[in-house]
Amino acid sequence: MKYLEWEVNVPEAIRQDSVWRVEAYRLALFLADIAWHDASKLMKVPFSQRVAGQLYDSVGSVGANISEGYSRGTGRDRARFYEYALGSARECRHWYHQSRHALGDEILQHRLGILTQIIRLLLRMVPDQRQTILREEIVMYTTSNIPDAPLPIIEGEETNSTNTHVSRFTFPERSDLAQIESTIESGVVSRRGETVLVSGEGCWMVDSEGNRYLDLTSSQGVAMLGYGHPALSAAIAEQAQRLHACPGFFNNDSRARFLEALIGVMPGHLRHAFIANSGAEAIDGCIKFARLTTERTGIVAAKGSFHGRTIGAVSLTWNPKYRKPFEPLLPGVSHVKYNDLAELDAAISDETAAVVLEIVQGEGGVNLGEAEFLQGAQALCRERGALLVIDEIQTGFGRTGKWFGFQHFGLEPDLIALAKGVGAGFPMGAIVYTDRVQEALFVGAHGSTFGGNPLASAAGLAAIRAYQDENLIERAEAAGQRLRARLEETLADCRVVREIRGPGLMIGIDLRTKVGPYLKSLMEEYRVLTLPAGTTVLRLLPPLIISDEEIEIGVAAIAAALGG
Ligand SMILES: Cc1ncc(COP(=O)(O)O)c(C=O)c1O
Repeated sequence: MKYLEWEVNVPEAIRQDSVWRVEAYRLALFLADIAWHDASKLMKVPFSQRVAGQLYDSVGSVGANISEGYSRGTGRDRARFYEYALGSARECRHWYHQSRHALGDEILQHRLGILTQIIRLLLRMVPDQRQTILREEIVMYTTSNIPDAPLPIIEGEETNSTNTHVSRFTFPERSDLAQIESTIESGVVSRRGETVLVSGEGCWMVDSEGNRYLDLTSSQGVAMLGYGHPALSAAIAEQAQRLHACPGFFNNDSRARFLEALIGVMPGHLRHAFIANSGAEAIDGCIKFARLTTERTGIVAAKGSFHGRTIGAVSLTWNPKYRKPFEPLLPGVSHVKYNDLAELDAAISDETAAVVLEIVQGEGGVNLGEAEFLQGAQALCRERGALLVIDEIQTGFGRTGKWFGFQHFGLEPDLIALAKGVGAGFPMGAIVYTDRVQEALFVGAHGSTFGGNPLASAAGLAAIRAYQDENLIERAEAAGQRLRARLEETLADCRVVREIRGPGLMIGIDLRTKVGPYLKSLMEEYRVLTLPAGTTVLRLLPPLIISDEEIEIGVAAIAAALGG
């Protein structure tokens, strides 16, 4: 841990003055110290530079006027400077309010607490007859009362209150942690720089240096409820304290409730589920279940697809970079051109157990499935006795503006693979399927030590309830339309943009050039997190709770980064 410490020494002359003057001076200096820290943080957040400058100016002016008041002897002259200080404190509240998104609510409350105290103390220092007028004026401007609340301290520490104030802020060491990861971890996932993310709140993630990032990725499409969602966090914490493990061969209350909720959001023909731990595992389960049900082994998948990286799932994944080094893979797998019904027709034989498709190819480039192709795939499967497996791992749980992507096309898949949004970020996956598939299964056909674990079940249940209680599926549709419309407007003349596409909050900005450098500059210069899809698509998968204001911040940053 790294400590940032500073001391405020109150000069002797001031120390002999009345208690509340000393207190106001001390607080103003303390505020100046933290405001310096806040302003330097704001400088790194897109569009906050102006606020940073104004904030720092107004804080400085509070301190300067208090100090000037001290040196002005007595009487009216002195009071005038306290009034100036009051005006600056009022302004300072305004600038702190403006920086709410970049600094976060906790910091905002803390700083407003200090400012309220300063305002309260300064009011006492002006002549009685001015106090009433100023109080009213301040209340009008700040639209809040001036409570006598005690000063909140977050991570600070007060010592020797007569003349010294020591503040202490803690940060984990960034370089150490990044180095540990790069030395020990496998390195199969390419890392974006040295940043160490340590916490999150709503749609924002925070690194070890206190920088805040607007997360337009939901951590690879999983944190649908953002970070620190109260109901999700409480459910996981409660379950962790009560029962964190329970084998699948015993019944468990949380698992039962989760299963009931999961089937409750499915169309009526999908009545059974197996709980897994990840997307790839759900896909592997679908392959096994389809083989058992049809007593066939062939699988048809699509070019451009991504289904995961276990040996089964990677056999279906299209990108040769992921597949080739691990051959020989699962036999009997073929890939057809996405949205080419004729190719699919030619590929499905009486050996085909399943056709496995995404509704929108996420990793492949945010490629939209067409109605004719998807509905045609279902008809061909029905005709030839193959099962239709829809991979809803990325598109499920509201991502596309409906509970599941297949609902846009009125499909009735035989099996669906789920992960990501099912636990809103808690690692879990699931397969949901029909009676016909259920009939083919037997004890021992499949299993998982961790699948249906109580912690995951509690998280899954809390996530589904939050999607329902907060109307997040409808909200994702509305927020997605807004995000797309704002991007289309803002990037209309941007030469680098070829096309903007995608349903709900799954949006791809197809570029005429490689996406890599833009991901980097969005993160490093604008503190906005985005994803690639293929080599040229900038992919946005924000949490379903994203606000209109956050959409504006994201759009403005993307436009600035792309030169729109
Ligand atoms: C459509 C799709 N299927 C499968 C997977 C694999 O999921 P996991 O990484 O949880 O194994 C992903 C992951 O990104 C995905 O987007």
